[in-house]
Amino acid sequence: MTDQATTPQTGSATHTATATATATATATAAAADTTTGATGAVPDRPGPRYEDARSVIPGAGPAPRPGERATLRLRETDTGTDTDTGADEPARYAPEWLQLREPADACARAHDLLDPLRIRLANLPRRADGFIIHDIGCGTGSMGRWLAPRLDGAQHWVLHDRDPYLLHFAAVASPRSAADGSRVSVETRRGDVARLTADALAGASLVTASALLDVLTREDVDALAAACAGAGCPALLTLSVAGRVELTSPHPLDQEITEAFNAHQKRGGLLGPDAATEAAEAFSEHGATVRIDSSPWRLGPEQAGLTAQWLRGWVGAAVEERPELAEPAGRYLAERLEACAAGELRVVVHHNDLLALCRPAGGAA
Ligand SMILES: C[S@@+](CC[C@H](N)C(=O)[O-])C[C@H]1O[C@@H](n2cnc3c(N)ncnc32)[C@H](O)[C@@H]1O
Repeated sequence: MTDQATTPQTGSATHTATATATATATATAAAADTTTGATGAVPDRPGPRYEDARSVIPGAGPAPRPGERATLRLRETDTGTDTDTGADEPARYAPEWLQLREPADACARAHDLLDPLRIRLANLPRRADGFIIHDIGCGTGSMGRWLAPRLDGAQHWVLHDRDPYLLHFAAVASPRSAADGSRVSVETRRGDVARLTADALAGASLVTASALLDVLTREDVDALAAACAGAGCPALLTLSVAGRVELTSPHPLDQEITEAFNAHQKRGGLLGPDAATEAAEAFSEHGATVRIDSSPWRLGPEQAGLTAQWLRGWVGAAVEERPELAEPAGRYLAERLEACAAGELRVVVHHNDLLALCRPAGGAA
């Protein structure tokens, strides 16, 4: 994925507390029967509103004030804006950003991983309530909206995230039916996915994630691999950033910005562009068969809105990593945005999807 984790800005504690109380109540209510009233689309703004535009990480996308259109700007890295952030607070993600990237994510996903997954699912013992699918770091639930209608059979999705605000969106806009018209239901669970255990995944048919692995550490991914292996369930872990981008036309600063962005992604021991390889290693160590396929965003004039947001986040994170780049990167960004607005910019942002087929629980092949 193209999001870099950093800490939320000043004021987020108050916002988080308010949003947590409200959204937990709403998400819990929604989770009681999450298929009722589901629209299959992310609503504009259900639930609590973001009061503080800086409370969501800029690089993960925009956090506009209510009524404002989403925009991103180059980060102010030299003004002390970041000095009073809660360094230990987890990153927050704007639903507007997740919504903006959802169509590009859908086009990018590695379809070739679906057949081996379908075969694995078809070989599972049938359960009355269908497949149990855990979507970890679900955000607003885009993975379920993409995958549920591509799999046959009844499904119950367990949507995990630590952000109750996003869980609320996910519950409201959950998928409703499978490829063959079977029922799809959802429930939401708030918590840290790095602490998932095999017990928590007992009975799971599949674990999925999208745009998550690169904001985890190797330790987190080891724990996830151990949990999936212990539960004997496969994992489809998609859209991890690969650390490579291609822009037309090439610019002398492309490489420097790419390297600074990639270094930023790895802050605090996060996997960043190493996510897919490290996860492959972790799952292989637990006896899983792992396959990685590429899943690049291919952005042209039709995706100019997403491209502009991505550019601001990408360059902004690079400058945060290397403040001395601020001036040239500012000019670079202005040039790129101009080309983007003129419909002249094309970008390929490389990602990887990974399918890990863990040995089924009970020792069957
Ligand atoms: C970039 S967003 C991707 C969201 C969604 N999967 C999608 O593709 O649109 C990453 C998501 O993972 C969640 N997340 C990150 N680390 C987490 C953790 N340790 N435990 C629970 N959720 C986490 C964030 O709250 C966020 O919703």
